[in-house]
Amino acid sequence: MYAVAIVPAAGRGERMGADKALLDLGGLTAIERVVRSCRAGGVDEVIVVRRDGAEALPAGLPARVVVVPSGGEMADSLRAAAALLPVDGATGADAVVVFPVDHALVEAETVAALLHALAGGAQVALPLFRDRPGHPIALRRRIFAGITAPNTVLRDLVRAAGAARVVPSANPWVHADLDRPEDLRAARCALAGQPWSPVAQMFRHRSHRSYRPDAVPTAQLERLVDAARHASTSSFIQAYAVVAVTDPARRGECARLCGGQRHIVEAPVFAAVCADLHKLATACTRHGQRLAADSFELFLQTTIDAVLLGQNLQLAAEAEGLGACMIGAARNHPGELARLLGLPPHCYVVFGMTIGVPADDPIPRGRMPLDGVLHLDHYRSELVDAVIEGADEGMRAWARRSNAERGGYNQKPLSETKGWADRMAESWGEHSSYLAARRTLRDELRRLGFGLE
Ligand SMILES: Cc1cc2nc3c(=O)[nH]c(=O)nc-3n(C[C@H](O)[C@H](O)[C@H](O)COP(=O)(O)O)c2cc1C
Repeated sequence: MYAVAIVPAAGRGERMGADKALLDLGGLTAIERVVRSCRAGGVDEVIVVRRDGAEALPAGLPARVVVVPSGGEMADSLRAAAALLPVDGATGADAVVVFPVDHALVEAETVAALLHALAGGAQVALPLFRDRPGHPIALRRRIFAGITAPNTVLRDLVRAAGAARVVPSANPWVHADLDRPEDLRAARCALAGQPWSPVAQMFRHRSHRSYRPDAVPTAQLERLVDAARHASTSSFIQAYAVVAVTDPARRGECARLCGGQRHIVEAPVFAAVCADLHKLATACTRHGQRLAADSFELFLQTTIDAVLLGQNLQLAAEAEGLGACMIGAARNHPGELARLLGLPPHCYVVFGMTIGVPADDPIPRGRMPLDGVLHLDHYRSELVDAVIEGADEGMRAWARRSNAERGGYNQKPLSETKGWADRMAESWGEHSSYLAARRTLRDELRRLGFGLE
């Protein structure tokens, strides 16, 4: 079967701010990756569609180029390329693979699987990731020829062909495209061999409290939460859930219930990280048992599970160039927040998390001397005074630097005389306003279905 790939790469890349075909993806440009995947996947010939005036493609690229006027749609690109397909007959193309350059991280094995499906009799084949179809799309030449009809788009051809053969793929990039800078950051991190040290990332952590309006693509959010939930989970209970709130009005409501924090409104995502025993309760019911919902131990287990997922989620987001801030104020009004998010019984928000492209650049806070945290063989309480003095001095040094270099922290100037200990005493002593805000927490948790006995 003679296969030709058509690679639409004629857009201006306005949202990306760069010509997508020429983006560097691990040492190869996006277009080189696509052409390489096509050839390695069994494609005989590649046609790349470029817009008039676009920069030249890398020299020696084994592909033909067809130029279209600027500003057209993908279907225009496909029509232009269709005119270049080898003529029907002995040397005619039997299969056409439409492989937009936006999906440059799709690998050769997907192309090979699609062509295999066509060779097996399918008229159209497309990859499926998490039940959602994506690109590239392979079509028999006869089906693809329909693109030459005016006002026809690729989707019409797929529909008209009837049931398309789906090829399951483990590669999220079949439906996540390279559209915005954050997609590019994610793509670069996702590339095999990309040097990324999770430990170095942990040292770079800072909470971000100001965000650009750019959305976090759903595919990226899915990938981050999917990765995050691979944290260890007590007895494999997986007793967590994440409600990702992207609707601005709902985020506003969440902010209202979380002390009016501005960054909840500003960030494109407010992820409510929930302890969730609802699935466990359902499992018990299905097997003739009642969930031990009164158990304090079970409450701790589900809470710990949620916390582990939450920390992983923050680290994963940071690894992909996003910023985040956990929101403990989600426990100010747990009942109301649960109702707003439609949580079932036995489910509460342990903390929220703002996620987005950061617009601030806070000085990292550092941490207290390690002697106060890591003890070898036995706890060394005799070091606590020195540790606290070190923490005080660290806090003052951070305040001085934040004031000098950033005009303060979270848009406010910082006291340079206060240390860590006096701040902690203010926040967590007997007159704590934080604790006052949570006075009803235990009763509210009980109403949400946690016995805490
Ligand atoms: C469970 C939890 C809840 C938090 N809640 C809030 C919050 O409601 N609002 C906020 O601005 N920061 C919140 N933070 C962020 C902390 O203030 C921040 O992590 C801490 O000051 C250390 O700063 P850093 O994260 O920049 O290193 C929370 C952090 C955690 C772990």
